Amino acid sequence: MAEIIIVRDPAEAGAIAADEIVRLISANPRTVLGLATGSTPLPVYEALRPRVAGLDVSQVRGFALDEYVGLDPAHPESYRSVISREVVEPLGLDPTLVRVPDGSLDGIEHAGDDYERVITEAGGVDLQILGIGTDGHIGFNEPGSSFASLTRVKTLTEQTREDNARFFDSVDDVPRHCITQGLGTIMRARHLVLLAFGEGKAEAVAGAVEGAVSASLPGSAIQLHPHATVLVDEAAASRLAHADYYRYAYANKPAWQGL
Ligand code: GLP
Repeated sequence: MAEIIIVRDPAEAGAIAADEIVRLISANPRTVLGLATGSTPLPVYEALRPRVAGLDVSQVRGFALDEYVGLDPAHPESYRSVISREVVEPLGLDPTLVRVPDGSLDGIEHAGDDYERVITEAGGVDLQILGIGTDGHIGFNEPGSSFASLTRVKTLTEQTREDNARFFDSVDDVPRHCITQGLGTIMRARHLVLLAFGEGKAEAVAGAVEGAVSASLPGSAIQLHPHATVLVDEAAASRLAHADYYRYAYANKPAWQGL
């Protein structure tokens, strides 16, 4: 099962994830990071800022999980813009080494295969940061996504479009399609770090961590991963049946184990 760590607040989760990323980059300057968008991973990127000062990040590579289809890449809410603004610029990464799936309509039919190829050529993702949608999606793998799926175009659910409408002028401006790493792609990453904060995520977290492994709740795929870490605040952990055990296990975690 995943290691569940119940934290005080998002800042503590960000610090734990950022410490592990710094450890990886210090050991291997060519570390490959899997980058997530949405509001949840922001504390990780914030915690990384002071930590990467003085660290050589010039060879760090990154792959975003997903992108909207048909949205101008220059739009402030395209995931290309978000990754550039929240990750590449503040951390001083080489923008040519950080990729986002190509959501432009021209060539969209082979954009998924192209993305899989560049991830493979980079040697695969070392640490994949994940958020989770209220319907249990990871990346943009909506309920029903195959556990074997690779990067491809998906149709967003109405709930996801409504959840993400806050980033646009209105829900009508949220694209209907996206291109997302598949659950199979995500499962190939060597370490998954899923974060979730707030009561609104409690049900999705409980389903992903303790519910049935099912394509109906794509986040439950993490139960099949050999190295998954889940960082949640008290509110997001509020529906976990075994929260006391997770606290006990973390309090008694052997020092040699690492994250
Ligand atoms: C979006 C992203 C996901 C993200 C999810 C949750 O749809 N594609 O990668 O995990 O929403 O977003 P937030 O972290 O803002 O709650």
